[in-house]
Formats: sequence, structure tokens, C-alpha cells
Amino acid sequence: MGRYADVYERSLRDPEQFWGEAATAIDWITPPAQVLDRSNPPFYRWFRGGVLNTAANCLDRHLPQRGDQLALISDSAMTGEVRRFTYRELRDAVARFAGALARQGVQKGDRVIIYMPMVPEAVIAMLACARLGAIHSVVFGGFASRELATRINDAKPKLIVSASCGLEPGRIVPYKPLLDGALELASHQPEHCIILQREAQRAELTPGRDLEWEEAVAGATPHDPVPVAATDPLYILYTSGTTGQPKGIVRDNGGHAVALRWTMRFIYGVEPGEVYWAASDVGWVVGHSYIVYGPLLHGCTTVLYEGKPVGTPDAGAFWRVIAQHGVVTLFTAPTAFRAIRREDPNGELIRRYDLSRFRALFLAGERTDPPTLIWAQEQLGVPVIDHWWQTETGWPIAANPVGLGMLPVKPGSPTKPMPGYDVRVLGEDNAELGPDQIGSIAIRLPLPPGCLPTLWNNDAGYEKSYLTRHPGHYLTGDAGYKDEDGYLYIMSRVDDIINVAGHRLSTGAMEEVLASHPDVAECAVIGVADELKGEVPVGFVVTKAGVTRPEAEIVRELVERVRQQIGPVAAFKTALVVKRLPKTRSGKILRGTMKRIADGREYTTPATIDDPAILGEIAEVLQAAGYAKRSA
Ligand code: COA
Ligand code: AMP
Repeated sequence: MGRYADVYERSLRDPEQFWGEAATAIDWITPPAQVLDRSNPPFYRWFRGGVLNTAANCLDRHLPQRGDQLALISDSAMTGEVRRFTYRELRDAVARFAGALARQGVQKGDRVIIYMPMVPEAVIAMLACARLGAIHSVVFGGFASRELATRINDAKPKLIVSASCGLEPGRIVPYKPLLDGALELASHQPEHCIILQREAQRAELTPGRDLEWEEAVAGATPHDPVPVAATDPLYILYTSGTTGQPKGIVRDNGGHAVALRWTMRFIYGVEPGEVYWAASDVGWVVGHSYIVYGPLLHGCTTVLYEGKPVGTPDAGAFWRVIAQHGVVTLFTAPTAFRAIRREDPNGELIRRYDLSRFRALFLAGERTDPPTLIWAQEQLGVPVIDHWWQTETGWPIAANPVGLGMLPVKPGSPTKPMPGYDVRVLGEDNAELGPDQIGSIAIRLPLPPGCLPTLWNNDAGYEKSYLTRHPGHYLTGDAGYKDEDGYLYIMSRVDDIINVAGHRLSTGAMEEVLASHPDVAECAVIGVADELKGEVPVGFVVTKAGVTRPEAEIVRELVERVRQQIGPVAAFKTALVVKRLPKTRSGKILRGTMKRIADGREYTTPATIDDPAILGEIAEVLQAAGYAKRSA
């Protein structure tokens, strides 16, 4: 048995001592005066008084031992290009781009939005902001103009960094028109936009506002790291909340650096100098923590991959990257493995590559279903680890800590809480539930370093969303249970969030889009189980009285509206026109019951239902559309 139990117990008994010791792995300009400031609960701050620079910790500090070691390998399955940067080269590129940003007036505390595909310049832009003490906010490229505009209005960036296009299989995604569209919608305007021109499709620039990346960098003076307080924000990352308004998750500099560095060795079990690959996107939290900051803080070589697990060109794409670059640890979402398994069920492509250096696979973003976990274990012959976390926490809440000695794997469970996370399963009355009883999963405050200290410009929203439901605890929004051995099982969300191919989306936001269609009287969107993507959204609409247009036409417009307003990433392909929606007598739509019907699961007719016959109508419509197979 490894060291997990001792380490975990120590982290809860004496968090100051535990994280104070972990903080010695970071280079401080001024060491923190205090490890944990508990003076203003429920707001806790880590490493108050500490001064550091995160980008210097990622790059400059490694130069004496690792200047010639690769820091970043950018591998594009879309263009076939591989670009490599040593630590020295990456530091120089980051310092130069920081100089370019400074020349455009960007200073410590200013916000910079980064809306880019998976190119090394995205990483350079993030680290350049960190070097200046400017706060980056990366927006995932699969979001459409309206989502980008919402984030621009909230973050109020001084500058936006973007690219002419992204590359998706079979199509070029022109980013610049999406950015222009967002700026037309936004009330806030940045002073400048820096645009990386990609050869696949160049963009037209707006004179006076836009400048090309090359032009911005030409002649820029490399900028030194700017000292920032441990409690200063490093970045804002917007994530789906329970309404159309995304939440601006704030990450601070000090706690983030300390926590991520700790996770690299003790959770992921990697050493400086090794090659670590998170097959995600820089627009998601996994990309922030484990493409960019974690591996670089730890002195690893990180891989940035532009492509898919299948179809670019085949289901061997991941094995090609692992073999070619000597990857020891891969982190991705279970949906990627379901896609690979579907195309290569016997793992024939796996055996074509030399995976001798590959040691462990980590999966997150959604629950790893046991058949996928077992298939991956059998095919790869390495530990396959489901671990659970959220944008808010920035690093795993529960995992199997490879670096502390692995615990026995129980398929379906992300194993046990990680240090600093005092995870409780609570009932309606806030009392802790016993083993195997499903409840709301909460974390007793204080949260460990690296977790969100608040929401951007919205302390009240932070308290309301996360700290009110269970006083003294952080509400994760997930429901589940612990078994008698203390293993956690994460079963569902307690709110309207769904996970589509590992991407977090709000059905409430999609309902807002459907409701804005002139022919729609009311609507509901639910997440329905999907073999590949885990869940996909399905919309139900009731049209207004007197609407006589063909249903198919309305449906086509609804699908297009969600794509235009939220983005292709929502994967919203199905809208069903129904006569009525099932509701309680007080008018609440019974989305949970609709979901059970759609998934073909057993359901009971709620006692509070207004008209039980509507459930039968919903089941019929779903069956006609190919859902609800077992509830017939
Ligand atoms: N820019 C623009 N569009 C994007 C995009 C981006 N960065 N990323 C995705 N999209 C588009 C896709 O082109 C697709 O559009 P389409 O409806 O026209 O086909 C849509 O958004 C959905 O994309 P995706 O979720 O990637 O689904 P897919 O069907 O193309 O591929 C998988 C399915 C399983 C292969 C894919 O989801 C995958 O690799 N998932 C890995 C999960 C992951 O990285 N999760 C991040 C958290 S760890
Ligand atoms: P995100 O903020 O996009 O990382 O999404 C976080 C949410 O994804 C969590 O609150 C869970 O609902 C879900 N999730 C992430 N990882 C897991 C996992 N390993 N098991 C179950 N659910 C997960």
C-alpha cells in the first residue's frame, strides 16, 4: 500500500504545514508571509504576502538545467507539421511576445482574451500574459460569436489575440469573422487585436484596430517577468453555469503554481524531463492546467496536439503521437477512447506503434464507463485512471495518485479524494450520508490552493452559486456516493449542466436560444445518453398557436440557431416538436422524468404532475426519433 492515506490525512489535519512545504518547490521573489489567510471566511486566500511570476517559474527557472531540453512539441495532424521549442526558445518567444503586448499598452492586471486554435502561439500568448502579470482569458474556438461577445463584455479585455482560422476535419473554421461578429455584438471594445495569419486561410484585417502577429512581434523588446502577488489573478476561464451567463472562474498565481507542481509528481507520477501529453484544447481547464502550466512548472516536455483521436488520419493517431514523441503519460476524455474503440475494437493499430515508454492513461471530463476503462486497460497494458475535477478546482478533486503508490482500481470510481479536499456526501438537510447513499457532493471549506478564490468581479455570485446550499462547504454540483472503502462515485449533476464529448455545456443556455425563435411558445432541453459522446442535447419545443409552417423547417432553423449562437461544440442536432411539455401543477417542467424516458430507463410518474398523459406523448415522439427504446 502506498503513502496515500498518510499524505491525505496530513493535508487535512495541518493544511498550512502541508501546503507550506509544497510551496518550497516554487521560486518566490518574496516567500509568502502566511500560508492560509482564514481571516475573511468563506473567502480564503493562499500564500498571502508571496510574490512570484508564474511564467518565470514555467520557463526561466529551468534554463540552467534544461535550456536545451524540449519544452513544447506542437504536433498538427491537420497540417502534418511538428514544431519543437526548447525551454530557451520558448522563453525567448514568450519574452518577445510579452514585449509586443507591452508595446500595445498591456500592463499588469489588464485582461487579454485569447481566441485561438491549437497552435503554439496560443501557448506563447498565455505565458506572455503571465509574464506581464496581465490576466488571460482563453475562449474555446468551438464557441460562436455570441458566446465570445458575452466573455468580452464581462472580462473587458484591453487586447484580443486570435488567428485567421482553425482546422477541423473536412473544413476550415474562419476564426477572424467570428471575432469580428463578436465585436459587433459586444458593448466593450478592445484597443487592438493581434491576429496570427495561418496559411490555410488568411484573414482580412481591420485597419487601425488589427495587426498581424509578425508585425506585432517585429522589433519588440523582450520583456522581463513582472512580479505579482500570489493572490493576483493569473487567468479567468469562463465555464457554463446554470443560465446562459457563463461564470468567470478566477485562478490566482501562487496557489495555482504550488498545487499544479505538486500534482505532476504525486498524482500523475511524472518526473522533470519526461514527456507529458494532455490531448485536450487550450480553451478548456484541462488545457490550461495540463497542456500549459503543470508540465512546464515541473520541467516536463508538453505536447500540443491539433487533431482528433480518429479520422486524422485514423484511430492510431494517439499511438503515433505517443511513439513519435516518447510520451509517458496521456490525459484525455473517455469519449476519445470510445471513438477509438469503435473504429479499432481489437486494438490492431495500437500494436503498430512502439509504446514502450508509455506508463499511464488518465481520463476525465465525464465519468469513465467501466467497459471503456476495461477495454483501454486490456489493450494498453498500463494503469487507466479515471479522475474527477472541474474548471472551478483546476486540478483533480479525486484520483488514483500514481506518484504516491496506486490504490486498487474500482471501475466506475475516480478513486479517493486528493490532498486538501475534504469531500462529503450531504443530504437535503446538510447532514452527511452513510456509505452507498447518493447525495450532493460538497467539499468542506477551505478549498485547497489552486481552486477558485472567487468569480471575476462577482464575490456575491461566488457565494450564491457555490457556498450557500451547504453552509461551510463548496457545492460541486455533482451527485454521487462513497462506498464503504471511501471510494467516490460521481453519478450525475444536480443542475442543468451536461457533458457532451467531455465539453461542459448548459442546457439552460440552449433553452434561451430556442425560446428566442419567433415560432416557439415554450421549450426544454435535456441531455440524453449517447454511446460516443456520453450525452447529447435534445430539444423539445411547443410552437405558438397559429404557427402553420412545416415542422421540419422550424427544426432546421432551431438547430442552426444553436450552432450560430452557442457554437458547433454544443452538438445540438435534434429538436422535437411536441404538443405540450410535462409539468408539475406549479408549472415546473419535468426535465428529469423526460430524461429517464429518453434514456429508456424506468420512471415513475411524479405525484405533482399536472397531466400524466403528456409523458406518453413525449415517449411516442422520442421513440419515433429513435430514442426511449427500452421504455416502450
Ligand atoms: N473550433 C471550431 N469548431 C470546433 C472546435 C474548434 N476548436 N472543436 C470542435 N469543433 C466543432 C467540430 O468541428 C464539430 O462540428 P460539426 O458539428 O460541424 O461536426 C463540433 O464542434 C463538435 O465537435 P467535437 O465535440 O470534437 O465532436 P466530433 O464529432 O468532431 O468528434 C470526438 C468526436 C469524440 C472524436 C471528439 O469529441 C474528441 O476528440 N473528444 C475529445 C474530448 C476532449 O478533448 N475533451 C476536452 C476535455 S478533456
Ligand atoms: P469541467 O468544468 O468542464 O471540467 O466539467 C466538470 C464536470 O464534469 C464535473 O462537475 C462533473 O460533472 C464532470 N466530470 C469531470 N470529470 C469527471 C469524472 N472523472 N467522473 C464523473 N464526472 C466528471
